[in-house]
Amino acid sequence: MANVQGAADVVIVPRDERRVGALGELATRISRACFEPPHEMRAQIKAALAHAVREQALLSAEQRQPASECYARHVLYADPSGRFTILAIVWAGGQFSPPHAHNTWCGYAVYEGELEETVFRWDTTEMRAEPLRTEVRKSGYSCYAGAGLDQIHRLGNSGASPAISIHVYGVERDRIATHVNRLVDTGATNTKV
Ligand SMILES: [Fe+2]
Repeated sequence: MANVQGAADVVIVPRDERRVGALGELATRISRACFEPPHEMRAQIKAALAHAVREQALLSAEQRQPASECYARHVLYADPSGRFTILAIVWAGGQFSPPHAHNTWCGYAVYEGELEETVFRWDTTEMRAEPLRTEVRKSGYSCYAGAGLDQIHRLGNSGASPAISIHVYGVERDRIATHVNRLVDTGATNTKV
């Protein structure tokens, strides 16, 4: 006889032998969250990221390396089904993203140091992004954003020492560079890049 009582607890998770340690736990939690309704998925991914950045062993020395020309993106984990990819972004002092919305759901948590985040709103009359406020994001902070123009931001490191954040994007690994950031016009001549 089938175990009807336990049927509701069944979660189909693609097999992946790399899911070990703190990164493995993060990947498993995100994988399970992808089966949840949107509001629950959001809460679970935020919580999973906040939990993961408490683990100092999450990153290797190599995955903490900045790059001189631009913030460095280190792929930590690619979901075998292509549903999401987890990265570490290492921000040297003075490195920032351009203002952008997203073409997919995403989340991040601050792992080391502090980041500066400017939040924008989309002006539907002017068809451009207007800055609303700038916040300091300290180690342990986590957030989630859906796709679209409701959530526009610019993230970076205004300090002198490198800072590191852990990101998850709802795309397969090969689409990180092309299908995540949706660059927006802010009206400034040097920010539409
Ligand atoms: Fe972003």
